[in-house]
Amino acid sequence: VVRRIAAPDIRARKGAEPIVCLTAYDAPTAALLDDHCDLLLVGDSVGMVVHGMPNTVGVTLEMMILHGQAVMRGSKRAMVVIDMPFGSYEGGKEQAYENCARVMKETGAQGVKLESGPTVAETIAYLVQRGIPVMGHVGLRPQAVLTDGAFKAKGRTDEERLRVMSEAEATADAGAFAIVIEGVAEGLARDITEAVDKPTIGIGASAACDGQILVTPDMLGLFDWTPKFVRRYADLRTEIGRAVGAYADDVKARRFPAEVETYFSKKPVSP
Ligand code: KIV
Ligand code: NA
Repeated sequence: VVRRIAAPDIRARKGAEPIVCLTAYDAPTAALLDDHCDLLLVGDSVGMVVHGMPNTVGVTLEMMILHGQAVMRGSKRAMVVIDMPFGSYEGGKEQAYENCARVMKETGAQGVKLESGPTVAETIAYLVQRGIPVMGHVGLRPQAVLTDGAFKAKGRTDEERLRVMSEAEATADAGAFAIVIEGVAEGLARDITEAVDKPTIGIGASAACDGQILVTPDMLGLFDWTPKFVRRYADLRTEIGRAVGAYADDVKARRFPAEVETYFSKKPVSP
């Protein structure tokens, strides 16, 4: 049996080898990522990159559970962390506990992630004390898009830098096993990584973090637009377009299916 990586293993990687993370939403992709990643995040980015929503606000707990179950079925080694969606944990620690416990029970995942706004530290402590491993998320918080405006890098003013730093410290002190830092300048990412005793996982947050994460369809080149911080390791958009175009041509020209792709009824055996 392969033992899954769990929160204490990730926690212990602070200052050691960089932590490799990617998002996953379905079983076959999770199986492919499992060989290479320490942690698979079932991100609420699923709303945008899989379901075509304009932002993550409309993502439901049921969606996260369904995708979380698929990722758990497809993987066996990486730690699986499920994003808690907008509206499922900000109402208070009891609400958060009830929803996080449901996600943990119904998916079998090893932890949850919460966007750690100023009021969430108390909730994180409450969850961790009750046995739920929590990953924080500071800097650019996509669930705050409606109050903060468009997806913009954070920590450009001194006031904002102090705020993000104090949110990261509060998240670490509350007992989070790791913290995602999204969309902040190198200096701030480095300061946070040095200040907190938990691994930081960067996305658009420089190489100063203890690990990195990207949205998998972004790094595979599935979209025509990606932010500056994404490196495209493949060009799936072109590859899928080519494959589907070739299939359409073959169907129209009756080149598909060929004989090898066709079932024939057995010839009667002659006596
Ligand atoms: O939803 C998501 O994919 C995330 C990562 C980008 C950190 O929160
Ligand atoms: Na997210």
